Amino acid sequence: MSLTIALPKGRLFEESVELLLKRGIISKPIKEGRKLLIECHPFKFLLVKPADVPVYVENGVADLGIAGYDVLLEREPNLYTLLDLGIGFCRIVVAGREESKERYFKETYIKVATKYPRIAQSFFSKMGIKSKILYLSGSVELAPTIGLADYILDIVQTGRTLKENNLVIIEEVAQSTARLVCNKASYRNKHKQVLEFFNKLK
Ligand code: PRP
Repeated sequence: MSLTIALPKGRLFEESVELLLKRGIISKPIKEGRKLLIECHPFKFLLVKPADVPVYVENGVADLGIAGYDVLLEREPNLYTLLDLGIGFCRIVVAGREESKERYFKETYIKVATKYPRIAQSFFSKMGIKSKILYLSGSVELAPTIGLADYILDIVQTGRTLKENNLVIIEEVAQSTARLVCNKASYRNKHKQVLEFFNKLK
């Protein structure tokens, strides 16, 4: 029985492929291109948007997947998280313009633009701050500059995007790394193969 594995395209892709190579799971690199289903016996790799990895795994079209903790926190999918892979480190932060930094800690109502509406909602309600969450699917850093929102909640890796848009980190919400996730039925039905894969990555 072969295993189908959902891999995140984009910033996590290279690190994921490097890890698979290093642990001898694959013997030659997988290239990120237009081809979205790559057969690499005994595995099939699906190259998908990072935020969609849990959807493929939860629905059983992929047995395993590599997903950022940020995405798992946002989606709360019904699957098993088997391993912290220690790659793809980033921070989930609240950021804003330098001049709003001081005001942030006194605010009782804020407008926040984010790709992570559930994380944002839950974070601000825990902090006792009323918030209006504006969901955007990308280029979130533009929002405070043009007055669409007061703050953003987003991931920061190198800090370059924030800097280039004159934004600063105000508060850290959580830290994130990539995780190995597994479909619940595959964990039972393909236990031997899943365990073999897990042991190589451990
Ligand atoms: C993410 C995130 C930030 C940026 C942070 O977006 O939403 O915009 O990366 O990275 P940095 O700190 O290294 O600059 P991504 O590049 O995944 O693209 P997107 O805006 O299209 O989602």
